[in-house]
Amino acid sequence: MNIVVLCGGLSNERDVSLCTGSLITKALISKGHNAVLADVIEDIDLGGKSALEYIASCRAREQKVYSVPKIAPDIETLKKQVLAKGRGMFGQNVLALCMAADIVFMALHGDAGEDGRIQAALDLMDVKYTGSGYLGSAVAMSKRLTKMVFAEKGILSRKYRMIAKEDYTDKTADGIDVPCVVKVNAGGSSIGVYVIHDRAELKPCMDAAFKLDDTLVVEDYIKGQEYTCGVLAGEGLPVVEITPKEGFYDYHAKYQPGATREVCPAPSLNPAQTAKMQKIAVAAHKALGVGVYSRVDFMMDDKGDMYCLEANTLPGMTPTSLLPQEAAAKGVAYEDLCELIINESLKKYE
Ligand SMILES: Nc1ncnc2c1ncn2[C@@H]1O[C@H](COP(=O)(O)OP(=O)(O)O)[C@@H](O)[C@H]1O
Ligand SMILES: [Mg+2]
Repeated sequence: MNIVVLCGGLSNERDVSLCTGSLITKALISKGHNAVLADVIEDIDLGGKSALEYIASCRAREQKVYSVPKIAPDIETLKKQVLAKGRGMFGQNVLALCMAADIVFMALHGDAGEDGRIQAALDLMDVKYTGSGYLGSAVAMSKRLTKMVFAEKGILSRKYRMIAKEDYTDKTADGIDVPCVVKVNAGGSSIGVYVIHDRAELKPCMDAAFKLDDTLVVEDYIKGQEYTCGVLAGEGLPVVEITPKEGFYDYHAKYQPGATREVCPAPSLNPAQTAKMQKIAVAAHKALGVGVYSRVDFMMDDKGDMYCLEANTLPGMTPTSLLPQEAAAKGVAYEDLCELIINESLKKYE
């Protein structure tokens, strides 16, 4: 197949996406496909070839491999540079390549890409792509809409309040109980997530979060163990148990090797609990209207109550990422997982 792996873009999770995309591209090439890595914002020189010839000649070019730097990138500066070119977000030839491909593998994370806007653009261009459609992506990207859907479907989620920037005053923090978790509504990778144990931290953290988003979700703290459960082709995958070595599961704990203990299948869950979490994960996936695959985050308290945090429609896809670990626990190798996602995604268009 001729495949474009779309990555990068203008999200805080851009570096994670470049890493994901480069490894997916390598895996697909190893399975005999023609796969080209395309950073959404970067101009691509086709060297006089047609888009299809360019994809077909992928083996003649050096394959870039990225790793995730310690610090999240400065997106505001990059956004200004990209928009100053006057051609919008898409780099030259990026859409032409997508239109020439049999399918686009969505290796984006966060912002446009995970929130459905790129999916909507691709729908309008009659381009096939992996994973969720635009609406499920948009709903799952919003922590608030996610909670509203969960409430309607009886999926347990922690009590929360929504705070809009226009209603935010110096007094807002006084009405919030601590411990709590402040989250930007449309975020990911724990960027803009603050676990607050000390009341003095509440206002500075809300101020910081409002720099990233106009809407915040402030959730009651859950004392417990963290898990995540992938959903692929309508079924729950083995559950991963997540234990950061320090603090909570923040950006550092997520992407720096060795910062978190991740064990799959989760040793602290008995078979009945595992089955229950998988069932909730599938229910959450369906309720939000996401498609093909996702990864649903959970925390379970001492009483065994399983709180669903969110669904990730484009979860990390490096070989050591959580979803690939879950697939591996079921005997599905990384390269095969990438191919499986493509085959399942093509069914959307039958
Ligand atoms: N209510 C909560 N209580 C305790 N920790 C939480 C809570 N909500 C989130 N967290 C921690 O913050 C992390 C990120 O939260 P999450 O809602 O999954 O946002 P993101 O989209 O950034 O991954 C979680 O993986 C967990 O470690
Ligand atoms: Mg999460």
